[in-house]
Order: sequence, then structure tokens, then C-alpha cells
Amino acid sequence: MGAQKASVQNASLGSRYVVHLPTPDDFAFWRERARALIQCDVPPDRVSWVEPGGTGDLFAQEGPSSREKRLPVPDADAPPVRASKRFMKLARNAALHSDPERFGLLYRMLWRLQSNPRAMEDKADPDVRRIEELDKSVRRDSHKMHAFVRFREVAGEDGAAEAGEHYAAWFEPDHHIVRANASFFMRRFANMNWSILTPCGCIHWDGKVMRESGPAQRSDAPSGDPVEDLWKSYYASIFNPARLKVGAMLSEMPKKYWKNMPEAEMIPDLIAGAQAREAGMVAAGMREERQQPGTLTAVADAIANCRDCPIADCGTRAVMGEGAPGAALMIVGEQPGDQEDMQGRPFVGPAGQLLDQYLTRTGIDRADAYVTNAVKHFKYVQRGKRRIHQSPQAKEIDTCRWWLEAERAAVKPRVVLALGASAARSLLGKTVSISKARGKPAMLEDGSELWVTAHPSYLLRLEGDAREKQAALFEADLTAVKSRLLELAA
Ligand code: URA
Repeated sequence: MGAQKASVQNASLGSRYVVHLPTPDDFAFWRERARALIQCDVPPDRVSWVEPGGTGDLFAQEGPSSREKRLPVPDADAPPVRASKRFMKLARNAALHSDPERFGLLYRMLWRLQSNPRAMEDKADPDVRRIEELDKSVRRDSHKMHAFVRFREVAGEDGAAEAGEHYAAWFEPDHHIVRANASFFMRRFANMNWSILTPCGCIHWDGKVMRESGPAQRSDAPSGDPVEDLWKSYYASIFNPARLKVGAMLSEMPKKYWKNMPEAEMIPDLIAGAQAREAGMVAAGMREERQQPGTLTAVADAIANCRDCPIADCGTRAVMGEGAPGAALMIVGEQPGDQEDMQGRPFVGPAGQLLDQYLTRTGIDRADAYVTNAVKHFKYVQRGKRRIHQSPQAKEIDTCRWWLEAERAAVKPRVVLALGASAARSLLGKTVSISKARGKPAMLEDGSELWVTAHPSYLLRLEGDAREKQAALFEADLTAVKSRLLELAA
């Protein structure tokens, strides 16, 4: 990888063109050249695609011919090149595969799509099947990179941590996926200085700028530091013996990655102890046995690394609750929104501002409460530049529930106020109707009281009389909570 100049040498070898890719993952470059070649009516068997250090195909080994000439330039009125959305989506990934024939395959398919725009729909077609295989294998490799990169703190010369804390991770991808996944790590570890070192090139982030450098070796990456302890206790806490399937685990987490993962050394022991632990769990009638992190700081660290459900890959970061550690009142919303995701704090966007108004109006001081959400990541769909909120599904709420329980165990509130149906589901473990549940506190298993009301964003969506009516109910619910807090404090 590295900042290689886009040296494009297009030659005709006899009747063939040779296109030299500047880097093995440059899909945009391939697309531009492929479009021009198709517009000039150059059939697939007259083009060789060569990546740096590679041969592309047998014909390309002949080397540039003395009759070298530039790629043909299409006429200004050449017909546009047709490619289905599905092809483009798969091709973007397939281009990152390590198969040296991938660019030729993609060009052949693009060529075929010009005369048969529905060619991608034929599932039995060998080209379609191969492109799907490449796409799948690249997606899998990216998933492994997201899941198995482990940062270790880089020590200075005397063994002390470097000023400014720099973290580095070693990873061995199967395909050319490193640059394509840089933005994932940039979003997830936005405020850290980090490097991901790989045998095919490295990426470095300093909190502002992404840099690239050439290949590294395993020995360039640090090994062993306090971050490992955090990973180990996190991994031990999420390891669920009742769900252990060794075969599936090995296929999901091949041994190749184990050496980079501090928690991997615990796997044999965890597997060995799994049966006994499972029996213990069943005996204790527990659905899941996890050791909860005891302090809010430990919960925050663990949540930041949680990948228990797909939403974890959606937003910028996990948004932890905030507020007084021993607060008598815990306020639980649904999930962070756009503003919360950007700022990393709960209820700071429009719904948060409305909530603040009603808290003030009913005499509840937000600074005395602990404010959090049922789900810790922002779930959305991108529409143009806007990120549109998507409600979490029941299974996502249930997966994230464990974190809310960890926060409750650390804060020990006496009153919990659920804003909306998602929060109520998380706290009660079942779906309830707000209109039926509001106004009557329910006892939670730790002895705290649960009060349920509407979500402030529901009020924001209403207008006129409907909004006035719901706002009055909301205010009444908050007033009741305030009275109860006064009673409990007396
Ligand atoms: N909506 C929520 O439920 N929580 C937030 O933090 C913001 C909006």
C-alpha cells in the first residue's frame, strides 16, 4: 500500500491492452478505465488488468510491447455504460479480493451487462457466482478485522507509555481490505492515536488525519499491556457457556487470529470450564451468567467495545449514560440520536432539550439524576446527508439490556423513569402500552420503582390539541415522579 503514484501504463500487446492498477484496492481507477474501454468497444479478451507486483494474467507477463500506445479514448457521444446497482455493490467489494483475476472477471461481467442488463440475476451463472463468492469472502475478512483488531499501548524507549498515548494493533488480512476499513476504525476510535499494522500496509490515525505507510512485520507491533486486562475481563464476562459451540466458534474466530487477541489465551480454559458453568447456571435457574463490571467507568469501557449486535457498527460510538453515581432517579430513554451520537452524551439533541424543559418545570434537577438509554448505539439509515433514526428492534433492546442492568447495579437508583416503549421493554423484559403502564409504578427486582411515561420525541412529532394533551400527561407523570422522590427522601 502506501502513497504510490498512479502509474498507469496502458499498452496494446499485439491486439491486447494492459491496464496497470496503481494499488490493488483501487476500485475507482478500475471503474474509470473499464468504462472507457467498454465505450471503445474493447472486448474482455483484449484487456489484461495488472496490479502492483502482480501479473494479472498470463498475457500480461509478456511485458509492455514496443508498440505501446495509450488506452483508446471514447468519443464524446459514446453511449453510457450500464451497470446494475447490485453489480456495483458486489464489484466494489470483490475488487478488494486477493484473487489476481478479479479485475478481469469484473470487466467481463460489466461487458456482458451491456447486452444483457439482467445478467446478474442468473444465480447459476459462473461469473455471477464467482463475484458473489469474492464479495462474501471480502465481507467476512472485513468483519474479522472489525472484530479481532486489538490495540495495545505503544511503550516509549524506556518502557514508559509514549506521551499522548499511542495504540497499535497487528492484523493479517486475507484480502486488500485495510484502506477500505480505515473509516470504521476512525469512527470507532475517533479520539485515540492509533496504528493498524499489517503485512500489506499500515494505517495511522492521530485524531485528525489518516496516514498510510508501507508493510509492517508482526515484531513492529507491541505486545502485552494493560489494555489486555480490560479485554480479558470483558471477554470472560461476555463468554456464555450455554451458547458454546466449539465448531462454530472456530469458524467465526479462526485460530490464525488468536495470537493477536489477549482473550484468546483464555479460550481453552473457558471451554473446559463451560460445561461445569452451564450446569451451574441451569441449577441456579439463570439465563445468563456474566460478571457485571462494578463501576460506571468499567461499564463505560466495556460498552465502548461491545459488539454484541449489528447496531454497534452503525453509529460513531457507544453513548454511555451520565450523571450522579448514587442518583436516586435514573431516567432511561430509547437510544442516542444524531446529536447524542456526535457528542457522545445522552439527551443533548431536540428530545433532550424538551426533556430538560419539563424536568425544570416539574422541579427535577437533571444534575441530580442519572440519564441513560436502553440501547447504547444510534441506529439509523443514511438519506443523502441526513441520518434518519430507526427504532431498535426488540432483540436489539434485549441484547443491550445487560448494559442498562450494569448501570442500574452501579448507580442503585430508587426510582427509574422509562421514557417510551423501548425503555419500558428494556426494564420490564416485555412490551407494554404506555397508556396502560403510566401513572402506576411497578416494582423492579432490585426493589427500585419503575415509572413509565411517553418519550419526549413523541411529543415533538405531535401538533395542536394532540400535542397539548400528551404534554399535559407527560408533565403529570414527571410531577408524580418528583413527589415520589420527595417522599422517599423524607
Ligand atoms: N432519544 C433518546 O431516547 N435518547 C437520547 O439520548 C436522545 C434521544
